[in-house]
Amino acid sequence: MGSPERDRYTGHMTTGHDWNGIKELNTPVPLVLFAFLGAAFLFALGYWILMPAWPLGDDYTRGKLGIDQRDTVEHHLAEAQAVRDGQWQAAFERAGFDEIRDDEGMMRIVRDSGPALYRDNCSMCHGSEGEGGLHFPRLSDQAWLWGDDPDDILHTLQVGINAEHPDSRVARMPAFGAPAMLDGQQIDQVVLYLRSRFDDTVGSGARADELLEVNAGERVYAAQCAACHGGDMKGNTLLGAPNLSDEVWLYGSDAQALHTTIRQGRGGWMPAWESRLDLAERKILTLHVLSLSDADVDVDADADAGADAGADAGADADADAGADAGADAAPARQDGPR
Ligand code: HEC
Ligand code: HEC
Repeated sequence: MGSPERDRYTGHMTTGHDWNGIKELNTPVPLVLFAFLGAAFLFALGYWILMPAWPLGDDYTRGKLGIDQRDTVEHHLAEAQAVRDGQWQAAFERAGFDEIRDDEGMMRIVRDSGPALYRDNCSMCHGSEGEGGLHFPRLSDQAWLWGDDPDDILHTLQVGINAEHPDSRVARMPAFGAPAMLDGQQIDQVVLYLRSRFDDTVGSGARADELLEVNAGERVYAAQCAACHGGDMKGNTLLGAPNLSDEVWLYGSDAQALHTTIRQGRGGWMPAWESRLDLAERKILTLHVLSLSDADVDVDADADAGADAGADAGADADADAGADAGADAAPARQDGPR
C-alpha cells in the first residue's frame, strides 16, 4: 500500500493500492448521479401511491388521485363532440339559405340528416317521397300553397297551418253552403265553371243551356271567389288560397269533390314544429323539402314550371333524382294530390 499520488497519464489521483506495480485510479461515481437515482426513486414511489399502478388480477390499484385515463379520454371525446354539434347547429341557425346552399359542408349535413328528419316527422302525412295524398299537399311538385321561397316554407314549419301556434298561418276556404252564402244552383254553376276550365267537354258550347250555366258560374266566381283565388284563378300564396287553374288538386277535382269543397269549406291542419324541432332542423327540412321538388323537375322535363326547372335542375341535381324517377314517371293524374 503506497500513498495516493497523481497519475501521470490521466491526471487523476490514485487510491494508493498497488498490485505488483499496477495502481488503481481513484474515480468515484459522481454524487450527482446518486442524487438523481434518489430523486427518481422518490418520484416512482410517489407516482405509485398517487396514480393507478399495480395490476391486481382483474383490477388494479387506483392511486390516491383517482385519475382514470378512460374517463379522461371519454371526457375529451364528449367535449369535442359537443363543440362540433354546437358549432354546426349554431352555424345553421346563423346562416341564410343562400349561405347554406353555397357551403358544401352544410349541404352534406342537409343530405345526411334531411331524409331521416323527414321520414320521422313528415312522411306519415306527406308521403315517403313527398308525393302527398288526398287532403295532404304534395311537396315534390312546383305547386305551393304558401310559395316556394325557403323562408316561406321555414315559416310554415315554424307556425303550422290552422295549427295551435299563436301565429299559425290560417287557410280557410269558407263554407258557401251556409245560410246567406250561395244557393244550390249557384254552387252548381260555379262548379261547372271551374270544371269548364280544365275539362273541354264542359261548357264547350255543344249544349247552349250548359254554356249559360257556365257563364253564370263565372259571375259567381268573380263576385265570391276571385278575392282569394285571384281573377286569373292562380291563387294567392299570402292567403294559402290554391291555384285553381292548374291540374293539381288538394281535395279532388271531380264534380262531387268540388261540390263538397265549396259547400262545406276546407281547412287542412299542418302542425306547428317550433316546439318540436329546433331551428337548425327546420332549416334542414326546408332544404330537404325543396330538394324533393328539384328532383321532380329533373325527371319531369315537361313540368309546367319550366322556367324554375332550368335554373334549379342543374345545380341541385343529386342522388335523390334516381329514387324519385319511378314515382314521377306516372302520368299526371287529373285528381293528383297537390
Ligand atoms: C276567404 C278566402 C277564400 C274565398 C272567398 C274562397 N276560397 Fe276557396 N279556398 C281558400 C283557401 C284558403 C283554400 C285552401 C284550404 C286548405 O288549404 O285547406 C281554398 C280551397 C279551395 C278549393 C280546393 C282546391 C284544391 O286544390 O282542392 C276550391 C275548389 C276552392 N277553394 C274554390 C272556391 C270557390 C269556387 C270559391 C267561391 C265560391 C272560393 N273558393 C272562395 C280560400 C278562399
Ligand atoms: C298531420 C299531418 C301533417 C304532418 C305530420 C306534416 N304536415 Fe305539412 N301539411 C299538412 C297539411 C294538411 C298541409 C296543408 C294545409 C292546408 O290545407 O293549407 C300541409 C302543408 C305543408 C306545407 C305547405 C305546402 C305548400 O304548398 O305551401 C309544407 C312546406 C309542409 N306541410 C311541410 C311539412 C314538413 C316538412 C313536415 C314535417 C316536419 C310536415 N309538413 C308534417 C299536414 C301535415
